[in-house]
Amino acid sequence: MKVAVLGAAGGIGQALALLLKTQLPAGSELSLYDIAPVTPGVAVDLSHIPTQVSIKGFSGEDATPALQGADIVLISAGVARKPGMDRSDLFNINAGIVRNLIEQVAKTCPNACIAIITNPVNTTVAIAAEVLKKAGVYNKNKLFGITTLDIIRANTFVAEQHGLNPATVNVPVIGGHSGVTILPLLSQVQGVSFTNEAVENLTKRIQNAGTEVVEAKAGGGSATLSMGQAAARFALSIIRAMQGETNVVECTYVEGDGQYARFFAQPVRLGKNGIEERLPIGDLSPFEKNALDSMLTVLKADIELGESFINA
Ligand code: NAI
Repeated sequence: MKVAVLGAAGGIGQALALLLKTQLPAGSELSLYDIAPVTPGVAVDLSHIPTQVSIKGFSGEDATPALQGADIVLISAGVARKPGMDRSDLFNINAGIVRNLIEQVAKTCPNACIAIITNPVNTTVAIAAEVLKKAGVYNKNKLFGITTLDIIRANTFVAEQHGLNPATVNVPVIGGHSGVTILPLLSQVQGVSFTNEAVENLTKRIQNAGTEVVEAKAGGGSATLSMGQAAARFALSIIRAMQGETNVVECTYVEGDGQYARFFAQPVRLGKNGIEERLPIGDLSPFEKNALDSMLTVLKADIELGESFINA
């Protein structure tokens, strides 16, 4: 199993690389790429950790050496938010970065599972899909937007409020990955009930949790460590499923049947070839139904922005 991390010298990339170096199955290969010249050094640093995971780092304009033979490509390359910015402010820079990297993925490892962290995820996943389509290698079962951070945040906040072990809480989060498009399905959390007021407040907190970090870091960036953990969890889930474990389910932003929008975060069952089955979102409370209806204009516009960036 070879995993490539693109953007590996950044805040997320380094945290993610550390977690993968210590948690990938024995015999795996980890390949780090970033335009930053420090990247081979990051790999040397991590190579001193005693695990059976080999690691190499590459920098410069060409990602090809890092991508050769990759089974999974995780992309966190790009700029992050500063206070006062929302995720759509990142579009101008990150759209071009994602297009360029996906073009290289399409050439070098077109069969890899590709998971995108770079924001705005609602839009960058659409960009990636269109680039892959143009190259004739798009497989909608192998392209993911990573929304796992929304899930782990929701699990943490619910556990904190109810005095539970967060490892036992599972909040499905659907929709997209920004503002109102992030919709935690609190009505589906087993064994916990919430007042209407608690649902409203928790939903807002989960939607704004990224901004909580951006403001607390006061100009020093956005979530990196919790995001590293979220991306590692997602990548390890893909790997477990590829290696034959059954019933690996994650919520992730993927192209589905288009019932709500072309791309939509929903639970999927992972398998040997990426998505094995898109699972239904289940029953929604009236609050959640209303939130779902009112997010769709925003989500669809985010998706169209990505599509037209490639096709216009
Ligand atoms: P960072 O600035 O610390 O790291 C970004 C890295 O990307 C840098 O090392 C930079 O050299 C590299 N880079 C820039 N252009 C590149 C290119 N063309 N090829 C290869 N590498 C390139 O940023 P951070 O904090 O790691 O965030 C990365 C991205 O992840 C941002 O877009 C951020 O908004 C997003 N993010 C996504 C989350 C999610 O839940 N999906 C959560 C938090 C952040």
